[in-house]
Amino acid sequence: MAKKFKRHTISAALPYANGPVHIGHLAGVYVPADIYVRYLRNKGEDVAFVCGSDEHGVAIELRARKEGKTPQEVVDFYHDKIKSSFEKFGISFNIYHRTSAKLHHETASEFFEKLYKDGKFTETTSEQFYDEKEKQFLADRYIKGTCPNCSFSEAYGDQCENCGTTLSPSELINPKSMLSGEAPIMKETKHWYFPLDQYEPWLKQWILEDHKEWKANVYGQCKSWIDNGLKPRPMTRDLSWGIPVPVEGAEGKVLYVWFDAPIGYISATREWAKQEGKNWEDYWKSDDTRLLHFIGKDNIVFHCITFPALLKAEGSYIVPENVPANEFLNLENNKISTSRNWAVWLHEYLEEFPDKQDVLRYVLTANAPETSDNDFTWKDFQTRNNSELVAIFGNFVNRAVVLTHKYFDGKVPDANNLQPIDQEVITELKTIPKKIEVALDQFKFREALRSMMELARIGNKYLADTEPWKLIKEDETRVGTILNVALQISANLSILCEPFLPFTSKKLVGVLNMDVKNWAEAGNVDLLSNSHQLNPAELLFEKIEDKVVETQVNKLLETKKMNEEENNAPELMPLKDEIVFDDFVKMDLRVGEIKTAEKVEKSNKLLKFTVDIGHETRTILSGVSKFFSPEEMIGKKVVVMANLAPRKMMGTESQGMLLFAENADGKLVPVSPGDGSENGAVIA
Ligand code: 2FM
Ligand code: ZN
Repeated sequence: MAKKFKRHTISAALPYANGPVHIGHLAGVYVPADIYVRYLRNKGEDVAFVCGSDEHGVAIELRARKEGKTPQEVVDFYHDKIKSSFEKFGISFNIYHRTSAKLHHETASEFFEKLYKDGKFTETTSEQFYDEKEKQFLADRYIKGTCPNCSFSEAYGDQCENCGTTLSPSELINPKSMLSGEAPIMKETKHWYFPLDQYEPWLKQWILEDHKEWKANVYGQCKSWIDNGLKPRPMTRDLSWGIPVPVEGAEGKVLYVWFDAPIGYISATREWAKQEGKNWEDYWKSDDTRLLHFIGKDNIVFHCITFPALLKAEGSYIVPENVPANEFLNLENNKISTSRNWAVWLHEYLEEFPDKQDVLRYVLTANAPETSDNDFTWKDFQTRNNSELVAIFGNFVNRAVVLTHKYFDGKVPDANNLQPIDQEVITELKTIPKKIEVALDQFKFREALRSMMELARIGNKYLADTEPWKLIKEDETRVGTILNVALQISANLSILCEPFLPFTSKKLVGVLNMDVKNWAEAGNVDLLSNSHQLNPAELLFEKIEDKVVETQVNKLLETKKMNEEENNAPELMPLKDEIVFDDFVKMDLRVGEIKTAEKVEKSNKLLKFTVDIGHETRTILSGVSKFFSPEEMIGKKVVVMANLAPRKMMGTESQGMLLFAENADGKLVPVSPGDGSENGAVIA
């Protein structure tokens, strides 16, 4: 930290209140943020650590509709659940607020109004999809249709979840409103755009020149956004759930969720300051305050580009000093997925591993997705617990305390006449706090944790090398010295492990019966005075047996099986609206026979057939090349829709359509008119 700041405002991404939180959230955002904040607090720094639930947006509105609830009911439920999980994991927010709170609505509205009055937005009218039946504009997520890339019939207007392609609703084939099921129309609507392009020169200087020290993954993503050119972004939406746009003529419109959510950090700080009798503006509008955002990689553009540009445009706010974003955590080699239930949910972990919050905090930090995506496996969880926390940290502290009780009635013995081996470990001990600080100051949490554990290793090795249990009969004074040194190391561990393992630190402080010390005291070897009385020993960690881990792995295997079964089940399309007989007879369905078949050049979907339909031979194109080779189709009897108006595809006119149906594996098979049917015969 080059510049000395007077206080720190530290935010952790506001989770959406439409589902519980899982280990990916913890590893990517909340554990590193909490470690950092605890470290600063231990150093006596003034910190506001703010977070809360992100309660607006289309996803929440959609979920509420699906569950037949109001959006408020949905967010109330998850807000409480998420808040409680964080508390139980010791994530030490000063406040966990929420964006449906009145103060947040006021804060976000005022912010918008200020920008509006200062002429910082541009008003643009454009055509958007509109559901005439529901009288509502449709957010991209509210439109479904067939993916132009993979033909998946349930693709969303912003993305196809089958093939992962990013889409815009206008690209969907046969788009349908998810509200009424009707085809939407295009209708004009007005929105307020924030001209990000105008902030490009400032962003270039501020990030690319002045913040070269940002993490490579963050800097790289920002550079690529900026190099690709920034565009104006609409800050309002046609939705009913959200913060009403505080401008005349904007009835029925709300603030874009990514406009209001980061302002949630400000409103959370305001609420906290109100409760604590502090001035919130000190934490947001003062140059000697350091603002940091802890987030996951999918939030980088909003926190490094959009929100800072909005803060800059407003004019009275500071901008972040750093945005230490993490990459993603996978679970047993697969992407964590809420919809596929591929996750370790925090509320379930707390039930299944009571009092083991620090084990998860430890494993997630040791394996944090700091520079690239990383994988969580239950095997690694078990190994790190058994061979690191139990065998090194726990074993060392336990031996030191148990032996002190055994030989010295639990009173800290004097250290006399230090030997070179004692001096050596003391010298090593003194280097550890600095190592942790250097790593934490650069947001290298894995390295910081390793340094903390290095001290436990030093202590463990020291006892193994000096073997006080063998010396006790011949030299009690020497044993006293060794145990004194071991206990001073343990006391140091209680300080240095606190940011990472707060529950363990507390337990250790209890066993050592010491006052809580601050960071500045780490490195000292007189934290426990002579004859100081220890409390009875308590195990800090316990071994995790194979069967416990097997249960967790089996649970995931079960999930995998269920997902596979679901995916394989043929997707049954809902029945279409009723038609009358006259509609049916309009279709001229005929028996045909495929005479030739070939691939269409430059298309990876289309096959070109010539089909004998009795009276004539037709050229017909079908998008089935991924299901058949041309050769296997030749000679097949097929059903032809013969009076379909011709359509040009890839430069060739298709004169009709062949009928196919999906089999149980999702593969298309031709609808067959049966053997012996004559080419050109009417099908009715
Ligand atoms: O990606 C998400 O989960 C968002 N809810 C994060 C919002 S962070 C901030 F801007 F509030
Ligand atoms: Zn697709």
